[in-house]
Amino acid sequence: MSESSRHSYQMYLSFLNQARQHEQAGAETAWKLYLHAARCLLEVASLSQGDTRDSQLNQVQDLVNKASALKTGTHKAGDQEKNPASDASASKSDQQVFKPIKDTGVSFDDIAGLESVKQEVFELVIQPMRKPELYKRYRISAGGGILMFGLPGTGKTMIARAIAHEVSASFYHVRASDLKEKWVGSSERNIAALFEQVRSEKTAVLFIDEFDGIGGKVHSGSSSSEQAISAELKSQMDGFEKDPDRITLLLGATNNPWSIDTAFLRSGRFSRMIYVPLPDAPARSFLLKAHFKGVPLSDDVDFDQLTRYTDGFSGADLVTFCNKVKISGAMRADQVNRISDITMADFHEVRAEFRSTVYQQDIDAMREFMLQNSFKIPEHM
Ligand SMILES: Nc1ncnc2c1ncn2[C@@H]1O[C@H](COP(=O)(O)OP(=O)(O)OP(=O)(O)O)[C@@H](O)[C@H]1O
Ligand SMILES: [Mg+2]
Repeated sequence: MSESSRHSYQMYLSFLNQARQHEQAGAETAWKLYLHAARCLLEVASLSQGDTRDSQLNQVQDLVNKASALKTGTHKAGDQEKNPASDASASKSDQQVFKPIKDTGVSFDDIAGLESVKQEVFELVIQPMRKPELYKRYRISAGGGILMFGLPGTGKTMIARAIAHEVSASFYHVRASDLKEKWVGSSERNIAALFEQVRSEKTAVLFIDEFDGIGGKVHSGSSSSEQAISAELKSQMDGFEKDPDRITLLLGATNNPWSIDTAFLRSGRFSRMIYVPLPDAPARSFLLKAHFKGVPLSDDVDFDQLTRYTDGFSGADLVTFCNKVKISGAMRADQVNRISDITMADFHEVRAEFRSTVYQQDIDAMREFMLQNSFKIPEHM
């Protein structure tokens, strides 16, 4: 965590604490403190990545909802906003026993844009998983492995969740770091236990996030433990889809495709690699409109202009940007003591200070990797 993130996080905890105390005391001001907490946590989220950022963004949403419920008096005693710290520890220990999510609740319709990715995923995995008999008849095996790669915050984890939901599969979400242990032999045992558990399901999606953390290139300088992990993972992947009565899908995601050991990319392991691009203009427009649905907006808000303004943003950047605008609107409403519309000027103000987490050098590195490996370069990276 950087110095400024740490500072914002401290502020967030302090506001949250005060908000809870005020709420317990029945003070009317509690909702404002929740909003302040949300704004500080949003600062932290805008500098985070991956699952940490996701859970922080969810928490921001919960805090904003809570603030508006308290403000309008619809909040019921006992409604608790989630505590990110306890959430994170719960998910960590859940993953050590590999507890699947029964329904992720994210559908393909929630994903903005990424039409060609959705189409590819639909043909490669959704249809074969939905109609296994038909595919078996044509000797096409359902399941198998797909490795998604792309810049941070582009929706890779979201797609994995949506796939599991679309095929009603148990969803195992593990990060490479959840599998890695200090002790020699423990990581291999974790990997074997995970695959065994997934294989015992009738229909399951196993998603290994940050795959480069465990499937990186093995070279002469790699430790014996790294080599053993790599070998175990390969052998488990080879045996993954052998059982004809079960449908299991292996998904991986990485921001650093160049660091993956190419032995993981052959048929039977990750037989397909799919690039997940940044949201193009229609996707950004969809996301912006979705985030401001039902929010008081002035007539001068021009979504076409906002779409152009946010070129180069990742999906996660867009979510952060929208939340900042909404929070500043709510803060102003508080100051003037009445609901006032969010105007284009509010967007300009937030945009002027907003820095996307996507850097040109990362886009260039990704394009270079794709060129070298004969991937089709999309019009919009
Ligand atoms: N295409 C999209 N449609 C809708 N929401 C999106 C999209 N892309 C990103 N988001 C939003 O951004 C958040 C982060 O996306 P997600 O975690 O799926 O990105 P990621 O590619 O897995 O990032 P990382 O590489 O950092 O793990 C999501 O929870 C969602 O709110
Ligand atoms: Mg992710």
